[in-house]
Amino acid sequence: MKFGYFDDHKKEYIITNPKTPTRWINYIGTLDFGGFVDHTGGALICRGDPALNRITKYIPQLPASDFNGEGLYVRIKEKDQYRVLSPFYVPTLSALDRFETHVGLGYSKLIGETNGLRCEVTIFIPQGEEVELRDIRVTNIGEGPIEVDLIPLVEYTHPAALKQFTNADWIPQTMVSRIIEEPDGLKILKQYPFMLRDVRVNYFTSNHPVSSYESDRAVFLGANGYGSFQHPLGLLEPEFKNTQANRGDNMAALMHHLGELAPGETRRIITQLGQTEEIDRLPEVVSRFRDQAEVDQAFLSLSQFWEDYLSKMQVATPSKDMDHMLNVHNPRQVYITKNWSRYLSLYQLGLGDRGIGFRDSSQDVLGVMGFIPEEAVALVRNLLSVQKRDGSAMHQYNPLTMVGTTGEAEEDTPQYYSDDHLWVILSVAAYLKETGNLAFLDEEIPFYEKDKENNPLETGTVLEHMARGIAFTKQNVGAHGLPLLGFADWNDTVNLRAGAESVFTACLYGVALKELIELGRFLGKPDLVSTWEGYYREMKAVVNQQAWDGEWYRRYYDSDGTPIGSAENEHGKIFTNAQSWTVMAGYAGPQRGRVAMDAVKKYLDTENGVKLSTPGYDGFDPLKGGVSTYPPGAKENGGIFLHANPWVMIAETLLGDGDQAFAYYDKINPVTKNDKIDIYESEPYVYPQNILGDEHPQFGLARNSWLTGTASWVYTAATKHILGIQPGYEGLHIKPCIPSSWEGFQVKRDLRGAEYELLVRRNPALPENTTQVFVDGELAANGIVPYFGDAQTHRVEVEIN
Ligand code: GLC
Repeated sequence: MKFGYFDDHKKEYIITNPKTPTRWINYIGTLDFGGFVDHTGGALICRGDPALNRITKYIPQLPASDFNGEGLYVRIKEKDQYRVLSPFYVPTLSALDRFETHVGLGYSKLIGETNGLRCEVTIFIPQGEEVELRDIRVTNIGEGPIEVDLIPLVEYTHPAALKQFTNADWIPQTMVSRIIEEPDGLKILKQYPFMLRDVRVNYFTSNHPVSSYESDRAVFLGANGYGSFQHPLGLLEPEFKNTQANRGDNMAALMHHLGELAPGETRRIITQLGQTEEIDRLPEVVSRFRDQAEVDQAFLSLSQFWEDYLSKMQVATPSKDMDHMLNVHNPRQVYITKNWSRYLSLYQLGLGDRGIGFRDSSQDVLGVMGFIPEEAVALVRNLLSVQKRDGSAMHQYNPLTMVGTTGEAEEDTPQYYSDDHLWVILSVAAYLKETGNLAFLDEEIPFYEKDKENNPLETGTVLEHMARGIAFTKQNVGAHGLPLLGFADWNDTVNLRAGAESVFTACLYGVALKELIELGRFLGKPDLVSTWEGYYREMKAVVNQQAWDGEWYRRYYDSDGTPIGSAENEHGKIFTNAQSWTVMAGYAGPQRGRVAMDAVKKYLDTENGVKLSTPGYDGFDPLKGGVSTYPPGAKENGGIFLHANPWVMIAETLLGDGDQAFAYYDKINPVTKNDKIDIYESEPYVYPQNILGDEHPQFGLARNSWLTGTASWVYTAATKHILGIQPGYEGLHIKPCIPSSWEGFQVKRDLRGAEYELLVRRNPALPENTTQVFVDGELAANGIVPYFGDAQTHRVEVEIN
């Protein structure tokens, strides 16, 4: 069943049925001020940390039919009574003649038609501003005149998001709403917890006269709170009661009488939900976006931002589905994951102190590197500043305080994750290759440890940080010579006893070393290069001697020497990452690599993507940890963990199989799920984190959309490995590994101050496996495209066979 379609021209996905199997969301604004809007107009809006400064009360666990955070009612006057409708279905669940939610770049536009009225609402946050705008247009599309009232509303939470749920005495006793009356009937409803009255307040206002308002939820719902959002009794009276809430559940509903609309007539009203410290100047603060022209301009600037952003790289391939993702939806998702980390989604509720994950953000920056390298490197600087002197890293940190935590690694478990500090080496290398800014390597960045005055005990250059990361892994190996697992590696949920070893971390170490060796060669540092080459050779030998299982690579050794991910195990016999990453690290030669990746295809591939492992653990096993808390087929326990799929694609390209790489790409492309939403359920315009595997009764069901490393890695796999557009130190390398049926493809990419128009096509006259590169018509001797940095467009023709 379909719930919507892609509109290429507008770069939108248009939802046409409000009853999607889960809520489908879109992000607006940034972590400074913003959140997500669901397809029926509910919204979770925060300013800064969602745990500490949350504005709307949005509870994802409530039924999808419930009001959540924000909404809009229209009221039609019929003789002596009112017909109360929600143009966006929730919460009155009114029958609609037409429903559309346009999931746009940085905005959502909702359209609802019912009873001869059309409501169109564009929801967005102007660039750099701290206010959510809802630009509402109501049109009479019926035959006769209609008398219409418009009632936008917000429900507030206490800013301390978790307290809202844990303390139902203190919270309601503190919540206060006050009205500010302005000339011409304009009103601002402000809201705050008492202690913040003179510090900062939330506000809700519009640019139309407000005849009455309500800020107490119990009064709005009526019958002492026994009314409902579906049938609010407060809307059956001509006017609200103008309650200025002194406690309790605070909300803001504004009554607008639009009067009689003649057929064809439209009214436009703009609401603002914001937060400000300029409490005494509220009328001035809100005046700007009461002006329609300012709102139009802000929307234009937002569109311009996205147009510029996306223009950095555009592709035209024989696959329309790939183009959809690579030109719009995947670049948008990497921007969102880079910005929001894992703070706030329908799945990550932003209630705790999780903060920024070292591992996740190190990977998120890879996806945005071609678009916003300087913003990416700003995040890399923060990450490096929570790396410890021994080279390991704090697992998470709060970006406001820069205080790090060890994640789930508790007292009696190893206190670090074995992989965190290695990922950031990949991020630094990607930045250097993208920008050529080698000065970054000499930048001094503190290590995490501080003295009593909170001054760092030591600082080191970026190069030194990376060298320490490598040294940490080199020194912390176990009985087989493989890196100690610590609390976990990339797979958070396999938590073995102290002394366990990780093949994955051995591979990530290898990939990081390869990056450093390449960098060291370019910098002309032979001593460093030979040290790192030595480390690399040593680990490669260990992995091949200790981890080859006969048909694939093993994934871990437990502390007692038991292999995990081996034919000798009953459950968890084979793990995908041990195969893809031994190829990515270059540890597996072409033959073993092929055998290992054939095992992935044979044992782990499904019609919905590649599973992380098989068979799933069937019952809780404290010696395996979190992985066995899931039923077989779910998440890390034999589920299709999407984040690991692009690594399979990359490994296939490294083995030269473009058909297989693309088949894996296409299989998990959300665009291709648009016809299978009844099984898949999640948004078809972003990657989810996981899909239930074939051991699970609901095989094919996707969850945890938006904030996942999948976004960044699939983008990397598709653009750098399948299309083969790889910025290098000396120039741009083009190494496509495409399906045999493709004749070629085109790419436009901005890089280091020049624009490249790349045209790749097959030339059967060339000897097999060769590439010829012509830059502005001239054959490039070494096959590398130079960096011109001349603000000009250069035409690059690449012939492959
Ligand atoms: C989640 C975590 C990520 C981890 C992955 C696998 O996506 O955010 O850090 O690597 O799960 O366990």
